[in-house]
Amino acid sequence: MNNVVEARGLHKYYRSGDQTLNILVGLDLDVAPGEAVAVVGESGAGKTTLLNLLGGLDKPTDGRILVDGTDIFGLKDARRARFRNRRVGYVFQFHHLLPEFTALENVMMPLLIARVDAAEAEQRAQKYLEAVGIRERETHRPAKLSGGERQRVAVARALTAEPAVVLADEPSGNLDERTAESLHDLLFDLNARLGQTFVIVTHNRALARRCARTLLLEGGVLHDTETP
Ligand SMILES: Nc1ncnc2c1ncn2[C@@H]1O[C@H](COP(=O)(O)OP(=O)(O)OP(=O)(O)O)[C@@H](O)[C@H]1O
Ligand SMILES: [Mg+2]
Repeated sequence: MNNVVEARGLHKYYRSGDQTLNILVGLDLDVAPGEAVAVVGESGAGKTTLLNLLGGLDKPTDGRILVDGTDIFGLKDARRARFRNRRVGYVFQFHHLLPEFTALENVMMPLLIARVDAAEAEQRAQKYLEAVGIRERETHRPAKLSGGERQRVAVARALTAEPAVVLADEPSGNLDERTAESLHDLLFDLNARLGQTFVIVTHNRALARRCARTLLLEGGVLHDTETP
């Protein structure tokens, strides 16, 4: 079967004054369908940069990225934005939910943007709120939810469009240990039950250990690590 994510020769340079920062220098990555891959590395190594490229939020200086067989930087900006909205789920370190909308409306948002009919969007959003165990809070705005509950809503939002891959940047970074563990249980349950593919950036060893593979981002490329 084809890889869900295939990155080849990714380079990302940032210019800062007359200095050039070489963050990624020819990085390759393959993620198979249904795989959960952890990416670890020091602060500043380029993990968020990598996720932003994989999600099509930022452009590489050089290299190619296929998501679900589509060369995402071969698409014009508007088509790439549409593709991203349908095929890539993003869970940020901080939830980025829209404060003026309820949990349900937040989860419906990617579908409404994709012009899915409102009744169907609502039904699908409810299904994923149920899957993350927070359906009974659907009418609440983010301010009324705890940090862990908001992260669950963010996971539901990443899933509703039934993306090829979910990219998660420190999804449990600001949760206490117990809440983090219950979020991890949720991610791996979705991975096992729905075969959802994940790329998860994390400093959390417990989370990395539960992934099929852990890759170390160092020196601008990914290195295989021994599975503990
Ligand atoms: N827009 C930008 N312009 C210039 N430099 C940038 C830009 N974005 C990121 N960088 C630099 O690129 C490097 C990698 O940043 P990135 O956010 O990808 O690191 P990270 O591995 O996610 O770190 P952390 O674990 O702290 O989140 C950092 O040195 C950062 O300062
Ligand atoms: Mg980061």
